[in-house]
Amino acid sequence: MTQKFRMGLIGTGRIGRVHAMSINALDNATLEWIADPFIAGAEATAAEFGGKVTTDPAEVFASGEVDAVIIASPTPTHVALIEAAIDAGIPALCEKPIDLDIARVDALRAKAAASPVPIVLGFNRRFDPHFDEVKRRVDSGEIGSIEQLAITSRDPAEPPAAYVAVSGGIFRDMTIHDFDIARFFIPEIVEVTARGTNTFSRDIEAAGDYDGVAVILRGSKGETITILNSRHSSFGYDQRIEVFGSKGMLQAGNIAPTSVRSFNAESVEGLAPYQNFFLERYADAYRLEIAEFLRGVAGEPFRSPSFDDGRAALILADAATESAKSGATVAVELA
Ligand SMILES: NC(=O)c1ccc[n+]([C@@H]2O[C@H](COP(=O)([O-])OP(=O)(O)OC[C@H]3O[C@@H](n4cnc5c(N)ncnc54)[C@H](O)[C@@H]3O)[C@@H](O)[C@H]2O)c1
Repeated sequence: MTQKFRMGLIGTGRIGRVHAMSINALDNATLEWIADPFIAGAEATAAEFGGKVTTDPAEVFASGEVDAVIIASPTPTHVALIEAAIDAGIPALCEKPIDLDIARVDALRAKAAASPVPIVLGFNRRFDPHFDEVKRRVDSGEIGSIEQLAITSRDPAEPPAAYVAVSGGIFRDMTIHDFDIARFFIPEIVEVTARGTNTFSRDIEAAGDYDGVAVILRGSKGETITILNSRHSSFGYDQRIEVFGSKGMLQAGNIAPTSVRSFNAESVEGLAPYQNFFLERYADAYRLEIAEFLRGVAGEPFRSPSFDDGRAALILADAATESAKSGATVAVELA
């Protein structure tokens, strides 16, 4: 019989509900405990997906009734909750970023490294079946050695001003996923050059943030990585990668909800707009990231992004923030 892992979920906001849905879709996991100080959120999630509720995450860790937890509460709570998980000996998958302050991440690094239980980061895009296929084919040598990687990531619409105010800036909030995808293909990055633009959102500009960014990263073997982000896209969530190598190129493009195309007097090849946002586009990835984490929980070989992957992405985000401000290229040390 398949072992059923009893899961604790901490935080039931946007991404917490996605994780509850993913746990529900896995045949080797059950949602056992849910913690959220906003108890109505926990109760609504429990009503849909099961589980006991509490306002206090400590009750989940002390329950003796969970085999693993998912930390999906706001970023400033992550460091203390990872520590609580390690202290309780409970494996944890924590949402990105670990924290907005690299000093707090560094202070936890040794403890995370010494943790006897897996502590992994929620960089779900590594588990997108399309990006993962590109990665497997690159690793098989199909396109030779990587020379260039191009990542495009545009959200459908800008977030609310209240979200922007506490996000830590576009590089730490949004580009952080792309920094991780960059390192999925090219782990050793040595240099960051970034520019930020304010082309359409007065709200984002007023918050001192950018509504679009362009980043160039340099890998240790001289590879070039470009990242383009925008906080809006009139045609929907725009998520593409292209890996160019010495023997060829692999691309993974956008996905429409249907492959049906229309042809008429006004247009040809008419396709429905792309999937709206991360909930739809990365639904498989969110489920597969938990499945991979549970392989680690079971003591099997697994390849979930580590605490140090989370730290590396934050170092790159900090360097990009600095580069966009100063105009200079910033050298980074990720080890
Ligand atoms: N991987 C992704 O694609 C992705 C997408 C969105 C958000 N995130 C990350 O997930 C985290 C949560 O983001 P969100 O958009 O779901 O936020 P949200 O504001 O929608 O939800 C956060 C929830 O956590 C609850 N909460 C607050 N303090 C808590 C605590 N101490 N313990 C337990 N619950 C607590 C809140 O009441 C709320 O219900 C952030 O770190 C964010 O960066 C990741």
